[in-house]
Amino acid sequence: MAVLVTGGAGYIGSHTLIELHKAGLESIVYDNLSNASEESLQRVEHIIGKEIPFVKGDTRDKEQLRELFSNYSIDGVIHFAGLKAVGESVQKPLEYYDNNVIGTLRLLEVMREFDCKSIIFSSSATVYGEPEMVPIKEEFSTGNGITNPYGRSKYMIEEILKDLSKSDSSWKIVILRYFNPIGAHESGLIGEDPNGIPNNLMPYISQVAVGKLNELQVFGDNYPTVDGTGVRDYIHVVDLANAHVKALEYIQKQDVMQEPLIVNAGTGMGYSVLEVVKAFERASGKKIPKKIVARRAGDIAICYADVSRAQEILGWSAEFDLEKMCADSWNWQKKNPNGYEAS
Ligand code: NAD
Ligand code: UFG
Repeated sequence: MAVLVTGGAGYIGSHTLIELHKAGLESIVYDNLSNASEESLQRVEHIIGKEIPFVKGDTRDKEQLRELFSNYSIDGVIHFAGLKAVGESVQKPLEYYDNNVIGTLRLLEVMREFDCKSIIFSSSATVYGEPEMVPIKEEFSTGNGITNPYGRSKYMIEEILKDLSKSDSSWKIVILRYFNPIGAHESGLIGEDPNGIPNNLMPYISQVAVGKLNELQVFGDNYPTVDGTGVRDYIHVVDLANAHVKALEYIQKQDVMQEPLIVNAGTGMGYSVLEVVKAFERASGKKIPKKIVARRAGDIAICYADVSRAQEILGWSAEFDLEKMCADSWNWQKKNPNGYEAS
């Protein structure tokens, strides 16, 4: 099976390429490199000892997508490509809807032209907005209380995929709702390489640990949680990568699908900011200076997944614990203090 991996040079995509290879699947990467460099792909090739075809291109470029589908025999698509910075999306809504929603529409149109109707889509727990309760089940309502255009773009794409599936049951669609991916491949060769000052917790902590940033700002300590700080379901990126392999295996076994399969991709465990800091300090042996500051706009108190559907339907569950996630994040950060840039 040959899989087109859009956004394959990015953080989750690059890790997924390795797991696809391990499962005996061929990948073709399509990425506009707007938030990645080819270096990540070269390192993946080094890890797997094999070349991966790469085409630099944008998901909104239909002509180039047609050329891609003409040149390669593609059985299915894992669609990671998209913009993902929550704060930036508030400043640049049109860019986010264009990139994420229009990019997905163009991709789906070309897939239909070439009768390639299997797709795994990278969605996010953000579609649940302020969840009714935790753990969050897939059947909970979505679309209400989403605080930013990034999250709404994911919600819109999910709705488009549901409509598409209704119109034609030969589409086989899996929507994975990622919780909070962190960690890195254990080689330390690939990992998360954010532009500028990180917005997310783990890259921020890692950069404090390596001396690039002075202290962590903890956004609020008055939430109704174990210690007042926000609780999230952190998942090792390699576990998450494996969920895609399982989703592809699932798709291959289906003749038709009446609706997209929607699956939470998390561990089912929630950890507070302070618990993550402690785990990172243990894993790295570094003290993380921190300061409690005001809550961040748009943040929710607690978010973690009910993972029973993933186990029952995909036969997938996360293996790695928070200690391993922190150890691997730290290993990547200390070996690559400037990400892919300095190599
Ligand atoms: P990333 O930015 O590292 O990877 C996305 C990749 O897509 C990048 O390599 C970028 O260059 C590429 N890209 C962006 N727009 C493109 C376009 N129009 N055409 C072609 N390539 C394009 O992000 P990631 O963390 O690997 O996330 C992958 C996917 O998972 C994204 O869709 C993201 O929204 C989603 N997701 C991520 C998280 C997270 O916390 N990392 C959580 C939930 C969902
Ligand atoms: N936090 C801090 N200080 C920081 C960064 C984060 O205290 O410098 C806190 C946040 O307030 C939150 C927790 O750490 O309580 C996690 O924050 P992240 O920014 O790492 O992650 P979020 O849960 O806010 O959002 C992430 C992705 C979204 C995705 C969502 C899915 O950024 O794209 O997970 O649940 F939609």
